[in-house]
Amino acid sequence: LRIILAGPPASGKGTQAALLVERYGLVHISTGDMLRAAVEAGSELGLAAKKYMDAGELVPDELVIGLMQQRMAAPDVQTSGWLLDGFPRTAAQIVAMDAAGIEPDLVISLDVPFEILKERVSGRRLDPETGRIYHLRFDPPPASDKALLDRLIQRSDDDVQKLAVRFENYRENVDALRQRYGAIMAEIDGRRSKEQVFENITRAVGMLR
Ligand code: AP5
Ligand code: ZN
Repeated sequence: LRIILAGPPASGKGTQAALLVERYGLVHISTGDMLRAAVEAGSELGLAAKKYMDAGELVPDELVIGLMQQRMAAPDVQTSGWLLDGFPRTAAQIVAMDAAGIEPDLVISLDVPFEILKERVSGRRLDPETGRIYHLRFDPPPASDKALLDRLIQRSDDDVQKLAVRFENYRENVDALRQRYGAIMAEIDGRRSKEQVFENITRAVGMLR
């Protein structure tokens, strides 16, 4: 099973990816997570990507495509199903997928309006140890776990102004995805609860079989 998960910033891609990976045993490949890890490690790629990410802008295609070419050639991806979270995002990235002969079975597009995305970014918190995504209101961390509460972090691009930039970039590029993958695209209402969204995605996966 090969899935592309698309959607505006903070629409729930990472949240659904964690559930899908567990259900179907897929390799989770998130360009956002990989780029944040590169920034954290201070690698050459991280240094080049940081200023774009901090501003909420897209990282240049050649950097992201190079990163993905490496990742997609790794043995785990070659031998198992995968879930691409946040890639491809531009026309050039779609062209690179096609040039490499990489075809998804299904493209999930999460649909969430801007007003709701604002609530989601402002309450998002991450556990840097496990990568688990929380929301202070919608998916709160257990109040009894003091060590967890102490280590939760907020992403540097999680404010409403940067969200607006990220949302605009998303809107400019979404047609390219729809044009290329429209025939295998399932548009899912991402405003619903995490569980309901997951159920609707699994239903779309079930129709493939
Ligand atoms: P990336 O990390 O991919 O950021 P993004 O696309 O902006 O998406 P997010 O990770 O912010 O949101 P999400 O959809 O995963 O939502 P989540 O599940 O966390 O990319 C970051 C940056 O890297 C980009 O801005 C760019 O600079 C660069 N980059 C990455 N890929 C690139 C590419 N291909 N090309 C160029 N540059 C690239 O959920 C959000 C919150 O909502 C959480 O708090 C969660 O708990 C909550 N939540 C989730 N689902 C629900 C629900 N159903 N109901 C209520 N709350 C919910
Ligand atoms: Zn994400």
